[in-house]
Amino acid sequence: MFGATGYTGARTAEAMVRRGVRPVLAGRDPGRLAALAQRLGGLETALADVTDRASVAALVGRGDVLVSTVGPFTELGAPAVAAAADAGAVYLDSTGEPPFIHTVYERWGPVAERSGAALLTAFGNDYVPGVLAGALALRAAGEGADRVDVGYFITGLGTGQPFSRGTLRSLAGIATQPLYAWRDGALRAEPAGTRMRTFDVAGRPADGLNQGLFAAQEAFLVSVENRY
Ligand SMILES: NC(=O)c1ccc[n+]([C@@H]2O[C@H](COP(=O)([O-])OP(=O)(O)OC[C@H]3O[C@@H](n4cnc5c(N)ncnc54)[C@H](OP(=O)(O)O)[C@@H]3O)[C@@H](O)[C@H]2O)c1
Repeated sequence: MFGATGYTGARTAEAMVRRGVRPVLAGRDPGRLAALAQRLGGLETALADVTDRASVAALVGRGDVLVSTVGPFTELGAPAVAAAADAGAVYLDSTGEPPFIHTVYERWGPVAERSGAALLTAFGNDYVPGVLAGALALRAAGEGADRVDVGYFITGLGTGQPFSRGTLRSLAGIATQPLYAWRDGALRAEPAGTRMRTFDVAGRPADGLNQGLFAAQEAFLVSVENRY
């Protein structure tokens, strides 16, 4: 569990332990790693810093599972996915950054095909629930369906912080970067905000742009309950 000392990493490690998994907690701060390891029942720890790629590579071997929440991913994510792809490991990350996701597919996908690694990028709140909900909606709709729109909305503003510190940093990094979309049989880059959909959120219309997280900001006025 690389990034274990961060907000998302610590919660992911806690969730693993609740399910009976005993992850190795990896990060760059031995003191905070040790404290977390003790709190979670005496887990193993490993030191790794993305500025020292060998230390990240040393975390994984063939068949290991590497979960990374070290972000912003466009800035800090490459060493972890590279280590997993090279080693033939299973890799999951919490990114929501389109340029990084694009790099995982284009740069590291072919490496993973050769090594036998499995790369599951963007395995967080965006985009797993939307993909699953979309798949279930299409299955329920049957043959007649020709499109499914998935919108992400943050509700209940005022009852908690809508984004973690790391997510805010990641958002700042991708604000001017292109998105990628499958259009007319090809993967194409397109600017955020070029497409718009209106969703029904708890009976009220809410606009979303073609950039998941910014679409959520559009919906700040829609306050239902805090689900984030
Ligand atoms: N897709 C989603 O739904 C979703 C949800 C939540 C978060 N995220 C993403 O997940 C990422 C983490 O968010 P967060 O809120 O957990 O951020 P955070 O609390 O700032 O955690 C970032 C982690 O990266 C580590 N790190 C930073 N520089 C490093 C380096 N040079 N070497 C090794 N580790 C380093 C930090 O270690 P230290 O503790 O030592 O500083 C920390 O553990 C962000 O990119 C965020 O956008 C996505």
